[in-house]
Amino acid sequence: MSKPALLNVALIAANIGSAELEFAVKKVHVLDVMKKGPTDYVTEVDRKVEDIVFEEIKKYYPEDNFLGEESGHEVNNSDTTWVLDPIDGTTNFIHGIPHFSVSIGLCKDGVPIIGVIYDPFKNELFCAEKGKGALMNEKRIRVANCNSINSAVFGMGIPYSKKNHSGEYIETLRTLMDSRCGSIRRLGSAALDLAYVASGRLDGFWEFNLNSWDIAAGSIIVLEAGGWVSDLQNSEDYLRSGNILAANLNLHKDVVDKLRKHLV
Ligand code: IPD
Ligand code: CA
Ligand code: CA
Repeated sequence: MSKPALLNVALIAANIGSAELEFAVKKVHVLDVMKKGPTDYVTEVDRKVEDIVFEEIKKYYPEDNFLGEESGHEVNNSDTTWVLDPIDGTTNFIHGIPHFSVSIGLCKDGVPIIGVIYDPFKNELFCAEKGKGALMNEKRIRVANCNSINSAVFGMGIPYSKKNHSGEYIETLRTLMDSRCGSIRRLGSAALDLAYVASGRLDGFWEFNLNSWDIAAGSIIVLEAGGWVSDLQNSEDYLRSGNILAANLNLHKDVVDKLRKHLV
C-alpha cells in the first residue's frame, strides 16, 4: 500500500490540531499557564496539540525526524524533518486575542518543502508545496505587488524575551519609520505574519531570533506565493539564524538594502 502524499498528511494533522485548539479556546480562562522562561509561556493545550499532530503524522511517516517546540528533537535516520509549532501566538491564545495558528513545516535536508498554517479562529488554512504554488482555503495566493516602502504595510515581532537584540530591533524600526513606510503591525504570530505576506495582506515582515518551528512552514508558503525570504544580510540561512525578512522581490531588495547594516 502506498503512503498518502506528504502534503495530505500535513493538512490532516493541521486539521486535527486546529480542532483541538478551537475547542480549547472556550476554556482558556481555566487553563494552567506555565512559564518556560521569564516571558515564555506554555499551556497544556500547546503540549496536547503537539502530541496529537505528531501522532497523526507518525501513523504514516514514523521513520522521519520530528522537531517540535514542546517535545524537542526526535532524530531518526532520515533526511526529512517535520517541524511543528503547535500554537504560534501562545501569548495571544492565553489572553483571548483571536490570532494564533498551528504551523507544520516539512524540511528535506534542512530546506522547507511543505508548509501548512491553520488559523482556527478565522478558519483560514494556508499551505504550499515546493514547486506547486501556495493556497489559502483552496484559492491560489500571491504576494502583494507593492514596490514602494512608502506605501508598504509591514508586520514585525518584538524581541523582548530571547537574546537581547533590542538595540538592533529599535534601529530597524527607526530606519523604516524614517523611510516613511506605510504602516507597521505587531500581530503576535510569526507563522501568520508570513502567511499574510504570502497572501498579500502584509507587504513585508521582519523579526530576529525566531526558531525554525516559527518560520519553516511560513517561509515556503511565501516563496511559493512568489515572494522572497532571507535574513537581514540577504542570506538564505534564515532558518538557522532565526533572523528573517520576507516580502515581494522588489520591496525585499529595497528593505534589505536599508536594514542589512543593523544585524551583522
Ligand atoms: C512567538 C510568536 C511571536 C513572535 C515570537 C515567537 P510562540 O511564538 O511567533 O509572534 O514574535 O518571537 O516566539 O511563543 O507564540 O510560539
Ligand atoms: Ca512560535
Ligand atoms: Ca508555540
